Amino acid sequence: MKFFLDTANINEIKEAVSLGVICGVTTNPTLIAKEGRDFQKTIIEITKLVDGPISAEVISLDAEGMVKEALEISSWHPNIVIKIPMTWEGLKAVKELSKKNVKTNVTLIFSPNQALLAARAGATYVSPFVGRFTDISQDGIALITDIADIFSLHDIKTEIIAASIRTPMDVINAAKAGADIATIPYKVLEQMIKHPMTDLGIKKFLEDWEKVPKK
Ligand code: E4P
Repeated sequence: MKFFLDTANINEIKEAVSLGVICGVTTNPTLIAKEGRDFQKTIIEITKLVDGPISAEVISLDAEGMVKEALEISSWHPNIVIKIPMTWEGLKAVKELSKKNVKTNVTLIFSPNQALLAARAGATYVSPFVGRFTDISQDGIALITDIADIFSLHDIKTEIIAASIRTPMDVINAAKAGADIATIPYKVLEQMIKHPMTDLGIKKFLEDWEKVPKK
């Protein structure tokens, strides 16, 4: 499983990229709004930091509007992937964009049927939302398992991005369930790296090193 960073924060992206484990970025209107900066400038800046897929979302609700926005946004950089919401109109837009070789990430997926339809419309990625599904007492990881099984059974090449990741356990479970990618918030990346036993181990090594006779 690969890792994308789920943020529009430039400092977080710079820091995470320095680790060498992040190969893409996902944004959404909420994440863009949180930064209080211009959408286009933010996305272009991200493309300069990460040489991989950068998801940027349309806000139109009709297929024609989505396609128009998508063509404008995708003209900013070849690595941009257009995030399209999983609706009737969204599927129409994905089909049109796929014909024009514009990569899409169908977002707000909450059922295997939605994922299957998005894939058949020509989506490059589907984003099932693990955390938001769990929030309503549904099994977000079972959703990933079902989609991964169906895609594997039918040899569907659309990649599964486990989205709405809230905890390090979500990441482990998404990997076990067969997600191709997990898009993770910066805070979860920090939590994945840290372990109290690692900290204790370093402390002990340094204490013992003090006992080594110095010349
Ligand atoms: C990913 O593509 C989504 O933008 C994101 O994971 C949503 O996460 P949230 O449910 O924590 O807002």
